[in-house]
Amino acid sequence: MIIEPRMRGFICLTSHPKGCEQNVKNQIEYIKSKGPIEGAKKVLVIGASTGFGLASRITSAFGSDAATIGVFFEKPSAEGKTATPGWYNSAAFESEAHKAGLYAKSINGDAFSNEVKREALDLIKADLGQVDLVIYSLASPVRTNPITGVTHRSVLKPIGQTYTNKTVDFHTGKVTEVSIAPANEEDIANTVEVMGGDDWSMWIEALKKENLLADGATTIAYSYIGPELTEAVYRKGTIGRAKDHLEATAFTIADSLKSIGGKAYVSVNKALVTQSSSAIPVVPLYISLLYKVMKEKGIHEGCIEQIQRLFKDRLYSGSEMLTDDKGRIRIDDWEMREDVQEEVAKLWLETTTETLPEIGDLEGYRNDFLNLFGFELEGIDYKAEANELVQVESIK
Ligand code: NAI
Ligand code: NA
Repeated sequence: MIIEPRMRGFICLTSHPKGCEQNVKNQIEYIKSKGPIEGAKKVLVIGASTGFGLASRITSAFGSDAATIGVFFEKPSAEGKTATPGWYNSAAFESEAHKAGLYAKSINGDAFSNEVKREALDLIKADLGQVDLVIYSLASPVRTNPITGVTHRSVLKPIGQTYTNKTVDFHTGKVTEVSIAPANEEDIANTVEVMGGDDWSMWIEALKKENLLADGATTIAYSYIGPELTEAVYRKGTIGRAKDHLEATAFTIADSLKSIGGKAYVSVNKALVTQSSSAIPVVPLYISLLYKVMKEKGIHEGCIEQIQRLFKDRLYSGSEMLTDDKGRIRIDDWEMREDVQEEVAKLWLETTTETLPEIGDLEGYRNDFLNLFGFELEGIDYKAEANELVQVESIK
């Protein structure tokens, strides 16, 4: 069948297998072009199918020849329905990894559950013995806590007072004002349950208990800070509380890993178009202005460029780890540069529906968004029949 983008709200209901494959191939080519990284050889990536997690898996495999196990939650195709992009990405990744002679297996299921953790532990035990790097890159709106059985839903709300600011519907380009009512205590607690560090810690404890972490193993999770403009809804909002918890968890995990000489880090990454970030109010407008400014300065990066730099210049640079005063790795350093933020703040004030196409990179935003679903990629014939049924044996 011929597959076209079908939008509903902030999501795209279809995805293109060939385009997703091209996305993965482009990222692999980028990593190869940057040369080898003296990194980990056995890597577990939790949240491995899209965004920063996929980039981390690709960087490990094609930068350091690592064996990778990927965990994610994606849907295969069904009659008349395409798979989710992360499914196609993972199918393409595995196929490329196998062609290169690299071990790559995946587990498709709920990473928050005991069952999926059990499956991953057994797979590591059987195939790899131990892992020396664990990447934690989940982004989810919901989590069922396996101990209490309670299902928590995260919210994206300010804390303390209603927040009003500009936002854009990036499909239509219309700039409007949005007001978001403040969260209550329950909203905050639920968001921390879902996006905080609890599950990360459960993974690491389970791995450690069964002696599946190699001596000196490292684990890393991803966080975000961002500018004053988005602070009320991001870093000082409910999601920010979850990130505070995630960052505090890095210290608890680091303590626990001391006995095996292991390390735990949080890396603060740049704002980028992913399925998760496009659902946050105000953030897409910020990103479209940020892209414009960073592209003009020649310092724009996507997920793969960010993670390549994280691995090469920070995690595996061979010198002492560069962190901020809170122990965090900062690869949002270029986003947060004073000259970048000053310009974005100035453009923010000038933003209207009329000015945005000129002063912002709405086109770049839209293009990146469509790319996430395998659309608008160079070199793909979108008029051709696409075989939408991609079955991959090792994705369970
Ligand atoms: P994404 O939506 O592209 O990736 C999420 C991944 O989690 C996918 O692989 C998905 O399959 C997996 N997943 C979701 N629920 C799952 C479940 N229950 N079980 C197993 N897998 C599940 O998200 P993105 O943007 O790459 O986010 C990853 C991390 O990076 C998050 O912690 C996010 O806060 C952080 N981050 C994102 C930034 C951005 O601008 N996108 C900026 C800085 C940090
Ligand atoms: Na990810």
